Amino acid sequence: MTTVHVPVSAPYDVEIGPGLLAGLGAKARALCPRAVRYLLVTDDAVGPLWAQKAADSLNAAGLTGAVYTLPHGEASKTADSLLKLLNFAADQHLTRTDLFLALGGGMAGDLTGLAAAVFLRGVAYIQIPTTLLAAVDSSVGGKTAVDLPAGKNLMGAFWQPKYVLCDTDALATLPEDIFTAGCAEVIKTAVLFDEELFELLSADGKGFDRESVIARCVAWKRDVVAEDERDTGRRALLNLGHTLGHAVEACSNFTLSHGESVAVGLAVICRACAERGICGPDVPYRVDALLEKFGLPTRTDIPLDALMEKMLSDKKRTGGTINLIVPEWIGSCRVLPMDTGEVYDFMREGL
Ligand code: GLY
Repeated sequence: MTTVHVPVSAPYDVEIGPGLLAGLGAKARALCPRAVRYLLVTDDAVGPLWAQKAADSLNAAGLTGAVYTLPHGEASKTADSLLKLLNFAADQHLTRTDLFLALGGGMAGDLTGLAAAVFLRGVAYIQIPTTLLAAVDSSVGGKTAVDLPAGKNLMGAFWQPKYVLCDTDALATLPEDIFTAGCAEVIKTAVLFDEELFELLSADGKGFDRESVIARCVAWKRDVVAEDERDTGRRALLNLGHTLGHAVEACSNFTLSHGESVAVGLAVICRACAERGICGPDVPYRVDALLEKFGLPTRTDIPLDALMEKMLSDKKRTGGTINLIVPEWIGSCRVLPMDTGEVYDFMREGL
């Protein structure tokens, strides 16, 4: 097992390794000694595989509670789902010292985190990511949200989990396409911070060692989040590939996954940056090659006008400026504020 400590305002550990789910109840008891009841939120793809094991562990530790199952996928990450979940928690008579748990991918984690942030003005929650994407990104750092019709993650809060348990056994049951999508966030981390990781992924492909690579990505994210918990500065780096990626995801009506969309966003920004001399031509060449090795897309045929409309409603925009994250070389990126009027031409150069 590998532990990554996250030293934010309410510090917590991320534990990564095989077989950890069996110890969930003991961990929950130790971290939340006043908790009596729990609400375990999951989806209909993950729940049948892992919810009973999680509930058994919680029950064996003397907690009682309920499992709440949502349809899997981004379509469940809505304000309507949030309200239904909160009403369910109220019907279950959860109190302020009780515990929410999110078992699943980004949808379950983001939605449950937001429910925990607002239920009774804030209760503890534990993240149990079962997808690679959630393990390396969304379960760590306390960003919680649901989507609004105007865009992704437009309603949310910062609310740090009490603990993140990443049982790598759960990754073994992931459908191939969902694992592949998560690899996009791993590749993003490598481009941002870690050329050695980039080389390791180039050599090992999808056979990379799960525990050590997840721990390495979480440690990079921890460093950024510890420095900029509320996303007012350096944390923006984590959005590499996401400004265009979110637009691709929305314009595809979520037929492209978050990870696939980020892959496209990452590839486009690297090509555009090479065109402008912000990075060398080796960067898009190597990034495209690695994404393709992982079976991830590097291009989209969605018209740029449609993508621009979505990008302009993205919350990362400040006034007339979009803060783009641009690579300088593999392992080093920076924020480049760009007038919205210029973004069209810039993106066109990378498409
Ligand atoms: N997923 C980006 C962040 O946590 O800031």
